[in-house]
Amino acid sequence: MSTITFALGKGRLAEETFALLEKLGITFPEYSTKSRKLIFPSADHSVEVVLVKATDVDIYVANGATDMGVVGKDTLMESHADVYEMMDLGFGKCRFAVAMPKDKELNPSKKLVVATKYPNVAKEYYSAKGMSIELIKLNGSVELAPIVGMSDVIVDIVETGSTLKAHNLHVVEEICPISARLIVNKASLRTKSQEISTLIEKIRGEICGCGYNK
Ligand code: PRP
Repeated sequence: MSTITFALGKGRLAEETFALLEKLGITFPEYSTKSRKLIFPSADHSVEVVLVKATDVDIYVANGATDMGVVGKDTLMESHADVYEMMDLGFGKCRFAVAMPKDKELNPSKKLVVATKYPNVAKEYYSAKGMSIELIKLNGSVELAPIVGMSDVIVDIVETGSTLKAHNLHVVEEICPISARLIVNKASLRTKSQEISTLIEKIRGEICGCGYNK
């Protein structure tokens, strides 16, 4: 049996995925949140996890650098990466939304200026509404943009809503829900078909609680 290589984005999705794999009996003795290592083989050598930046997971999988990965739907929607999206893992839940300062109003006769880390998502959302917008691509701290007068609104992910609240912003449009997705490299699904299918079925059993592993 070949080892399945698995890309995980550093942070909460990685934590949840390690916990999920451990429930399946796939343990990572060298892994700890404090470790500076980026490569973690499982004790049974069935899986090797590499820790990458969350927004790079789909790049690793699309390019065949790893066979599988766990990535947020937000990243997939932005990148349109050429991978198989196999399963909604049900964790990492948040949503895409449009938000703006509570004390401001939009001027419908002016072109809307939108700041976001997700230019493709924003472009596609407004284009589906038939609106042409001006986009400002940022790499983080997007909430600042409308406060400092750089944009009218932001398109961003909202989880607890506390970042918006802390900046006196509110959601004015919900775009869609987001959660973690299990993705697979297209060639790997052929070349490691048995190993990958078995792992996916075990994960599915654990996620849906239908007893496959019980
Ligand atoms: C994300 C997002 C919001 C925040 C939402 O930012 O861009 O800022 O989380 O979470 P909340 O609704 O629970 O407050 P991230 O933490 O990735 O930091 P960034 O601004 O540097 O991108």
